[in-house]
Amino acid sequence: MLSDTIYQLLNNQVSAEQEAAYKYLQMAAWAEKEGLNGAAQFFRTHSQEEEEHRDRIFNYLIECGQPVILQTIEAPKHDFNNLLEVIHAAFEHEKKVTSMIKRIAEASFAEQDYQTFNFIQWFVAEQHEEETLFTTVLDKAKILGYEGEKQGQALYLLDQYLATAHGNAESAEADG
Ligand code: FEO
Repeated sequence: MLSDTIYQLLNNQVSAEQEAAYKYLQMAAWAEKEGLNGAAQFFRTHSQEEEEHRDRIFNYLIECGQPVILQTIEAPKHDFNNLLEVIHAAFEHEKKVTSMIKRIAEASFAEQDYQTFNFIQWFVAEQHEEETLFTTVLDKAKILGYEGEKQGQALYLLDQYLATAHGNAESAEADG
């Protein structure tokens, strides 16, 4: 049985993960429209990961005998000026999710709900990984000299990098 506070935080997180999935799917659609196939693949993969996150919390609530109540999700931003703006928007969203996850960790620890505290550790590690991923992508953009141009070699190379960025992050994690 979860406390009302922990339940509310986890129930909100189900919709927050869905919102993230929705945002990244819209980013993928923007990238497709721009002919940026690597970026489209990157954001589509990321959107699917967010759906997996949603399902983890959904399943935990069900296991705890708690009702899952989905919330309204606003239509995500769909008009971006360039790929750099998209990556920054995604990174900012990850930071917001990290603060929500931290809040769940703090509340469950404070209430001595060690079952939820243990459950949320996976998300704490995942948020670290995701923030590292976006930092790495932004570093790569800087190295390539990409500053938001609508076309050119740097954009082409960054798009190519994004096609494999998820795989690179996962294999680096497996190696480590
Ligand atoms: Fe599930 Fe990227 O936060």
